[in-house]
Amino acid sequence: MTKRRILDLLRNGEPEEQATIQGWVRTKRESKKFAFMEVNDGSSLANLQVILEPTLEDYEEKLEQLNNGASVEVTGTLAESPGKGQSIELQATAVTVYGEADPETYPLQKKRHSFEFLRSIGHIRTRTNTLGAVMRVRNSCANAVHQFFQQHGFLWMHTPIITTNDCEGAGELFNVTSFDLNNVPKENGKVDYSQDFFGQPAYLTVSGQLEAEAMALSFDRVYTFGPTFRAENSNTSRHLAEFWMIEPEMAFCDLQGDMDWAEAFLKHIFQTVLDECPEDMEFFNQRIDDSVLTTADNIINQGFERITYKSAIALLEKADKQFEYPVEWGIDLQSEHERYLCEEHFQKPVILTDYPSEIKAFYMRLNDDEKTVGAMDVLAPKIGEIIGGSQREERLDILEKRIKEAGIDPEQLWWYLDLRRYGTVPHSGFDLGFERLIQFMTGIQNIRDVIPFPRTPDNADF
Ligand code: 4AD
Ligand code: MG
Repeated sequence: MTKRRILDLLRNGEPEEQATIQGWVRTKRESKKFAFMEVNDGSSLANLQVILEPTLEDYEEKLEQLNNGASVEVTGTLAESPGKGQSIELQATAVTVYGEADPETYPLQKKRHSFEFLRSIGHIRTRTNTLGAVMRVRNSCANAVHQFFQQHGFLWMHTPIITTNDCEGAGELFNVTSFDLNNVPKENGKVDYSQDFFGQPAYLTVSGQLEAEAMALSFDRVYTFGPTFRAENSNTSRHLAEFWMIEPEMAFCDLQGDMDWAEAFLKHIFQTVLDECPEDMEFFNQRIDDSVLTTADNIINQGFERITYKSAIALLEKADKQFEYPVEWGIDLQSEHERYLCEEHFQKPVILTDYPSEIKAFYMRLNDDEKTVGAMDVLAPKIGEIIGGSQREERLDILEKRIKEAGIDPEQLWWYLDLRRYGTVPHSGFDLGFERLIQFMTGIQNIRDVIPFPRTPDNADF
């Protein structure tokens, strides 16, 4: 008999069927006549209840071994469960204990543990309901990302993790070197990078966007989905030193097209996760944040409002509300402003476009007014900015000028400029941080709890 996953048994198991499961004991209860245990194999939030009768071989000895955290294989017969909340249970006919877990030292007790404590046991915390649900949602979400782009003819490209582009200005960089740091070669008092591995300074990538643009000019539609690194020393609930980023890039696509893609993408991701992980999403709504399902519904079912930055500023200025940060043309919107727009004024997702060029990156396309650029940010209720994107500057002369204005040496971006010399085309793209997306989707407060093994300042354990 082949083994079955618990999720499959809970959804499709029929009484009288024989089944074998493998997993870890969550709880065990003994009564005079028999014992129950709950077993989980990570495939679902719900455990499978197993009934152990004294007729089992070595019954007493096995009961001693079957403590929380022990690994076990159970073969038995499925039966309708009389207990409430469960449809099916397994009446064991054979039990193998693979590995015991000493109840004196096993770190997960039958009580609610704080997220902080759980982070200190990163190797075991995914055996809890909450972290288990997060990782299943994360998996479903990653799969949905690929599904969406593959269905629409995007090429998945792997961007380099090591880069010599230090000029995109997206964040603080980690250096990559093979120097012995106790004995760094110097010339005229400065580090001599010509002797380093790459013959020049190299870094861990902060974004694959510029490479994605190059590939979009060969394949029309591409996307990146991979790890990025930022050495920002900010110990916040939204920053990781290592995180995953999704960056689609579309050739022959203007800002309108960019917005259409971003909206369709978000709708698809949220819908897929609701379809694939309904119990987990329900769990988040009940236990973590009771707006999670409403937010998802809002993203899936509402058309996104589209307004310019200029109109947004006018709306905010007129708003009957006292903001902490005063509003005027030229400011970078704060989250209180973004939340007012989508939670109070429009009550649905909003895409803001055409930001002042001063507060946006050099590669964004300059509008005819020469004051604003073709940028777009997608803001969602309860979430704030979830996607940032833009139409890219495809005109060589204007791009060169913008690069210089940003204080960057155009020589360093020679290849990026080449893309405007040879077969340039209007093109657009957007980005989103994968862990931020999971945070929004699940309502989990701290970004450290939506990635299996988080890397943050002073922490790279496990
Ligand atoms: O907004 P960012 O800096 O944008 C770029 O890197 C652009 N070059 C990408 C582009 O336009 N294609 O970063 C992209 C996203 C942010 O929106 C945020 O969700 C996430 O990455 N992010 C982080 N997530 C976790 N930890 C951090 N330290 C993050 N910094 C940015
Ligand atoms: Mg951004």
